[in-house]
Amino acid sequence: MKTYELRKRYFDFFEEKNHKIFPSDTLVPDDESVLFTSAGMNQFKPYFLGKKKDVKRAVSCQKCLRTGDLYRVGTTAYHHTFFEMLGNFSFGDYFKREAIKFAWDFLINELNLKEEALWVSVYKEDPEAYRVWEKDIRVPKARIVKLGEGSNFWPANAPKEGPNGPCGPCSEIFFDKGKDAGCGKADCGPDCSCSRFVEIWNLVFTQFERRGIDDLEPLPQKNIDTGMGLERMASVLQGKDTNFGIDIFAPAVKEAKEILKAETANKDTRSTVNAIVDHARAVIFAIADGVYPSNEQRGYVIRKILRRASVKAALLGCQAPFIYRFTGIFAHLMGDFYNEIREKEDIISKVIKAEEEKYLSIRKQGALNLQSRLDDLKSGELNKAQVLFEFYDTHGLSLEESGAILKEKNLEVSPADEREFEEFLSQQQERSRKKSMFDENIFAKGVSFAEITEFSGYRNFSEESGIIKILSSR
Ligand code: SER
Repeated sequence: MKTYELRKRYFDFFEEKNHKIFPSDTLVPDDESVLFTSAGMNQFKPYFLGKKKDVKRAVSCQKCLRTGDLYRVGTTAYHHTFFEMLGNFSFGDYFKREAIKFAWDFLINELNLKEEALWVSVYKEDPEAYRVWEKDIRVPKARIVKLGEGSNFWPANAPKEGPNGPCGPCSEIFFDKGKDAGCGKADCGPDCSCSRFVEIWNLVFTQFERRGIDDLEPLPQKNIDTGMGLERMASVLQGKDTNFGIDIFAPAVKEAKEILKAETANKDTRSTVNAIVDHARAVIFAIADGVYPSNEQRGYVIRKILRRASVKAALLGCQAPFIYRFTGIFAHLMGDFYNEIREKEDIISKVIKAEEEKYLSIRKQGALNLQSRLDDLKSGELNKAQVLFEFYDTHGLSLEESGAILKEKNLEVSPADEREFEEFLSQQQERSRKKSMFDENIFAKGVSFAEITEFSGYRNFSEESGIIKILSSR
């Protein structure tokens, strides 16, 4: 089944069950608590919180961007920076039983998956969900596993670690690729790190409002938030080993291989090509939604993703702008559903090309700089970590980026070099911290930092806080 048809079947199935079809929200949500839209539920927050009530059931296919798995992209079969998430939602309407039944019905009767190929997990303290799977759906106990809040709570670990807000236990559905793909142990199950089980659908039962550590208040209205990775599901239906083999990826991967003359029988090269294609797609969709590469916030994330792709292409011997070419390829592959890519193809491609040229010239300068010191580096006269740090400090090149330049000159960056680089970095941070600190007497002046302990920057874009005191350093 083609990806396009899967999307359509999903919409049709849930529309028939009285869900309103919502278009995907942009990747830049009207929500300051997140940098990018990372899940289907983001655009429905006002409905979850009961602030909007005009719709009770919704269905969508949401463009998502996540950087948490950036370093795994390409090396695993199913991780992406940009991906699409199918989801059906209930706002104070149906709950666990119906959500589970809908999901099963869709997988078995619409997609024709075999019951014995499906496993499920439930939160270990959610007997209600367990009962539905066991008694109503009749999934054998052997294929229902109970897991903790790291895997079966959304957001993951929310009770202990937050963030505050709507959350709840979840139940995940896995496709079993068969024993041959497993680890060989008798108890191999969805919590195994082998590639046997593909997580295809997450059903979140949003029933609590978290107020603090383990402080979960039942929500007045219970909600359903589900998420099915479109690419993963398509890979299962199309019988592909990885998402990169599906219809909306394979032609782009083929093109990349041809342009790069890459020999993808080699696993590392294959991962590199896959990552390049993934990153190119993420950057294209982000620019289409108005995020241009820059040194700040969202633009910085996009710049880093693009640079990562460029470094990877350089490792495969490509020293010319190349990522921009994927704009046309993805406009062709995905433009029927995402018109914005087709409409803005020209500008997206120009922005990427200009950014690639700029970055290639920075790298060229770095490489020249390096050339003059190559002998000293090779003989050990010059400290490699120090030079890497200098590149970071003066050219703005990350360790990974300058490491790639060294690699082109047959100089490897060892874990010890990396550790030493980190040392230089923390020494520099310490120096600038000291520089900006007030004198020791600050405490004598009546300021206590004792309660200012929580760093929320990984979760939130901005915070409200009170001013305790203003001190003048004069
Ligand atoms: N919000 C959940 C997730 O992202 C389900 O959609 O997995």
